[in-house]
Amino acid sequence: MKGFFGEYGGMFVPEILYPALEELEYFYRKIKKDRKFRNELSYYFKNFGGRPTPLYFAKNLTEKIGGAKIYLKREDLLHGGAHKFNNAMGQALLAKFMGKKRIIAETGAGQHGVATAISSAVLGLKAEIYMGNVDAERQQINVKRMQILGAGVRIVKGTLKEAINEALRDWSGSVEYTHYLIGSVVGPHPYPTIVRDFQSVIGREIRNQILDIEGRLPDAIVACVGGGSNAMGAFYPFIKDREVRLVGVQAGGKGDRPGMNSAPLIFGSKGILHGARTKVLQDEDGNVIDSYSISAGLDYPAVGPQHSFLKDTGRVEYRVAYDDEVINAYLELSKTEGIIPALESSHAIVEAIKMAREMDKDDIIVVNLSGRGDKDLETVLRVMGNENR
Ligand SMILES: Cc1ncc(COP(=O)(O)O)c(C=O)c1O
Repeated sequence: MKGFFGEYGGMFVPEILYPALEELEYFYRKIKKDRKFRNELSYYFKNFGGRPTPLYFAKNLTEKIGGAKIYLKREDLLHGGAHKFNNAMGQALLAKFMGKKRIIAETGAGQHGVATAISSAVLGLKAEIYMGNVDAERQQINVKRMQILGAGVRIVKGTLKEAINEALRDWSGSVEYTHYLIGSVVGPHPYPTIVRDFQSVIGREIRNQILDIEGRLPDAIVACVGGGSNAMGAFYPFIKDREVRLVGVQAGGKGDRPGMNSAPLIFGSKGILHGARTKVLQDEDGNVIDSYSISAGLDYPAVGPQHSFLKDTGRVEYRVAYDDEVINAYLELSKTEGIIPALESSHAIVEAIKMAREMDKDDIIVVNLSGRGDKDLETVLRVMGNENR
């Protein structure tokens, strides 16, 4: 069925949005093969965004752990400081080709908002970004960055879930001239496919780079999973390479109890949120349970539908990393490699370190370092301050 990954996905939206989603699907299919679009996107990826990002051998960390070789895919070096640029640039350009003048988006950590503001500015589009007040509070620098870049920031009560609700509401009344630039592989069809395709540049580059450096594919690729876009981008080009283990890491937060984590792939069940059937954190009556994570970018009670499918088929393994482990990994990578990772990406570092210990010295792990961690300094310092008291 159209827009489904097994039983997950679909288009569960109010009728008023159907024509917009159909239009988007139609244009996307057409434009993705269009040479002018592809050339322009490659141009912006390379000259504006800084692609390809390096695949860096984390020698110090590898030696310290004493197990498998750990490589870092440096999406933190991309313009804006996170992988979010790949999708924002792709969709903003798509919107421009579709003749839309206004972009709306939601953001959690603010990274997608910043990427949207950057892409809209360079293409001369008007951007308005919805953000929950909880996230705006913990990511104030990103709010300021969006404003400096010329975007309007609309603060709503709550976190990412509420921001998406508001963006969808806005879109219902403005579809003729507005493109809704969703920031992860979530939402109704065709978004999970579009976002995955734009992010797959990560996995394609990993393949070429690791073949160049090591002459073979990695034994494992590890990435954090919020909505799931950086992980999907890294994993998708390797789905058919069964010898490559794909490991997604969700936010274990403060523990396994409801409301303490953001790990619907571990603790969730089938439900519908934001236009798609997927795994959702919910109670027995189907009420969505508020998620929690120390990292704003993983604080979401659902996940992209393709991840739910990949979990059920067993092709991707999903784990959790807890807040305290995440802070330790953040500090560890900063001190050993001189790279401050985003708290989101630090979830992947936690798991990669655990895996590397169990693996041989000749084995290879690639970690998708989805973003830089400057935005999280205050959060980390606050936690460390509380611990020292
Ligand atoms: C640096 C970084 N990594 C990961 C994520 C999680 O998003 P996704 O799971 O879509 O990659 C975010 C979200 O804001 C982010 O800012």
